[in-house]
Amino acid sequence: LKSMKKQPIPEKIGLSDNALQVLEKRYLKKDKAGKPIEKPEDMLRRVARTIAAAELIYDPKIDIRSIEDEFYGLMARLEFLPNSPTLMNAGRELGQLSACFVLPIDDAIESIFDAVKHTAMIHKSGGGTGFSFSRLRPEKDRVGSTGGVASGPVSFMRAFDVATDVIKQGGTRRGANMAILSVDHPDIERFIKAKSVPGVLTNFNLSVAVTDAFMEAVRTNGEYELKNPHNGEVVEKKKARDLFDQIVNLAWKTGDPGVVFIDRINAGNPTPQLGKIESTNPCGEQPLLPYESCNLGSINLSKMVKKNGKASVDYDKLSYTVRTAVRFLDDVIDVNKFPLPQIAERTRQTRKIGLGVMGFADMLIDLGIAYDSPAALDTAEAVMGFIQSESHKASEELAAVRGIFPAYEKSVYDGKVKMRNASCTTIAPTGTLSIIAGCSSGIEPHFALCFTRNIMDGTKMVEVNPYFERASVEGGFFSKEMMEKLAGGAHLEDFKDVPEATKKLFITAHNITPAGHVKIQAVFQKYTDNAVSKTVNFPANATVADVDKVYLMAFDDKLKGITIYRDGCKADQPMSTGKTE
Ligand code: CDP
Repeated sequence: LKSMKKQPIPEKIGLSDNALQVLEKRYLKKDKAGKPIEKPEDMLRRVARTIAAAELIYDPKIDIRSIEDEFYGLMARLEFLPNSPTLMNAGRELGQLSACFVLPIDDAIESIFDAVKHTAMIHKSGGGTGFSFSRLRPEKDRVGSTGGVASGPVSFMRAFDVATDVIKQGGTRRGANMAILSVDHPDIERFIKAKSVPGVLTNFNLSVAVTDAFMEAVRTNGEYELKNPHNGEVVEKKKARDLFDQIVNLAWKTGDPGVVFIDRINAGNPTPQLGKIESTNPCGEQPLLPYESCNLGSINLSKMVKKNGKASVDYDKLSYTVRTAVRFLDDVIDVNKFPLPQIAERTRQTRKIGLGVMGFADMLIDLGIAYDSPAALDTAEAVMGFIQSESHKASEELAAVRGIFPAYEKSVYDGKVKMRNASCTTIAPTGTLSIIAGCSSGIEPHFALCFTRNIMDGTKMVEVNPYFERASVEGGFFSKEMMEKLAGGAHLEDFKDVPEATKKLFITAHNITPAGHVKIQAVFQKYTDNAVSKTVNFPANATVADVDKVYLMAFDDKLKGITIYRDGCKADQPMSTGKTE
């Protein structure tokens, strides 16, 4: 692989107290008494060494130590981190390194409970699972073998939910699931209301798989058909607009359901001959075939800025980082211990990896660009376009040395460009990774500039965003009272001493219009093979019509799916996506 001159390896990782706490609680190896027996540096060494070992498969004489050092350096400088399961499990007994899985569920009790068991096995190792329940016959349908009536998809989801509660991901993190139901399933109304009661299905995100034909019918006020998947019978004809209204209403109320544009996802399926994509992973950023898994990794964009003179994106450094990260993620596949033979087989056929970014909002601040400005869209376009093209080049170079992915001939790349990986890029939420790296999460704007953290002994501490702290000290308007007021919910606009330019630069999630959120997501989606995790924030007083507009806009702007969050709505999500800093 083309490489840049070696970067220095730091002696100590620059971790915040917060990062240290997260690592100690959930990532570091512990003894029987629960005391950490490795330091963060040891953890990254363990990861770098385990992943670099894959290189011996391709070149038994390779200088393995130097590869290990490159991988270690990349992580220790907090420029790139692989997804949490890799940090937790590499070089340890479990050895399961992927965050994303999709399992098939067929219309049979055996298949449903096989999937429950496989879910438990995946959650135990820190992975998340997505499923389509669309093949299950609807509630009250006849069951041939017993003469009884079927429970329907929503009832069976409860079995997965309880299993998830019981497993708690090996004590490391709470399991997460995505449930997808096709918009033409007879139980669709029951499905979209499944989380409208608080405390129910709390380990699930719900998404309706809507087709292009359905969206067209919404637009033209047309009808669409509900079909029983068991026998293909048309059960009912409905106005598409009525169902769409219900979806939007519930999303306004509770944040669920989201929608995935399933035809668009399949239009981007790199291996259509292997089958159709029917679900994504829990946060929606990774569409996968049944039994496929994918390992993710994220580049910290806040470390990709040249700060001498006028700040600019350091493309040389970014190129090196992308290429080394692609190589790292491709290596992960070879040393990964998969939870099931079917998953091992499928994953090794396509060799999907998902390289993404975090710290985008931090990068913009360093560049002096407000998140809701046209310049932010241009930056997203340039940076993600570059990452997409460099990651594809890196995969091509790997293919030349290591060979194409085994299902290549069944892929859209066949006869065109030789690739090592059926997909290269995915934008994950980076809920925990961004805490470890000390940067803003994924491509999200800052959620708050100051917030109150509860310390264990009951005291409260105001934490200030480091970029904002620096700007306020340098600008001469820093005061403890102001930070406390901001943490208490005051808005930056209300402070007279703060210059207008600073107010613009430090815009937070609530002050960005929903359309502004969608626009950024759309630019990133344009340059991402898989999908993009993003929350579109709405103020508490947003109307149902506002949400309606944004769902339609998401379709028109070619997103693969959309999730919204209205301030104060009764969201009960299985994980934080940066909205509760
Ligand atoms: O930051 P981290 O690598 O821990 O995870 P993330 O980027 O917030 O989430 C990436 C993916 O990991 C999610 O879409 C899920 O597939 C999985 N995940 C999970 O299964 N359980 C969690 N509690 C968090 C994430």
